[in-house]
Amino acid sequence: MRQKIAAGNWKMNKTFDDGISLVKDIVNGAETKPGTLVILGTPFIHLKEAVQATSYNDQVKIAAQNCHQETKGAYTGEISVEMLKSIGVEYVILGHSERREYFRESNERIAEKIKAVLAGGLKPIFCCGESLEIREEGWHVRYVKNQLKRGIFDLSEEDFKKVIIAYEPIWAIGTGVTASPDQAQEIHKEIRNAIAEQYNDSIANATSILYGGSVKPANAVELFSQADVDGGLVGGASLKAETFLPIIDALPAHIS
Ligand code: PGA
Repeated sequence: MRQKIAAGNWKMNKTFDDGISLVKDIVNGAETKPGTLVILGTPFIHLKEAVQATSYNDQVKIAAQNCHQETKGAYTGEISVEMLKSIGVEYVILGHSERREYFRESNERIAEKIKAVLAGGLKPIFCCGESLEIREEGWHVRYVKNQLKRGIFDLSEEDFKKVIIAYEPIWAIGTGVTASPDQAQEIHKEIRNAIAEQYNDSIANATSILYGGSVKPANAVELFSQADVDGGLVGGASLKAETFLPIIDALPAHIS
């Protein structure tokens, strides 16, 4: 069965010292249940120390929030997969709506990055999700399926099994508005069905699909108890141990 995951996306927040003390508060405070995983998506400067600070707990992993698609070269300001790997990072968040919007990352660019991450032996957290306009016009399912198709559906079965999907409706990110548990379940089910159609039932059933967009302690239990919601990708509420620890606690235990 699939893993239940609480992933934090810190975005561009926390000085070095503040970030490392948060990592320690989380790894020391988390009561991780069987079959659950915590992933902390920190800025680049925290990664190496964060990997070391969490190394004694194999249910807490560290993610970068971006990487470059090329292996090395003249790309001023960029970070390669090999560099991330060399400090023990295991996951990379890709395709976040902020990267798509503010940094003009296209579906094609994201697909290249996904392939680079997999080729380097790391695991991508692939983000997708529609704008409010698309939701109101009623074609969000089609839009998200197209993002899946262009971002990850040409991967081999073996590679696809390493991908975590995060459905994050843009209208719910950082707005305090959360998709209702029914809205989340509806689209997560569509995503799982699309995976089954593209690959097969067993791969679809084994894929973790996280919900993102204003997840907080008050709504995490209900969201995570939906059949096809396998945890969350959490921004604002992952910046404090007092709000992220209860979200980790909201993951249902899974005993296989
Ligand atoms: P939020 O962000 O939890 O602050 O809405 C989620 C995300 O952007 O991953």
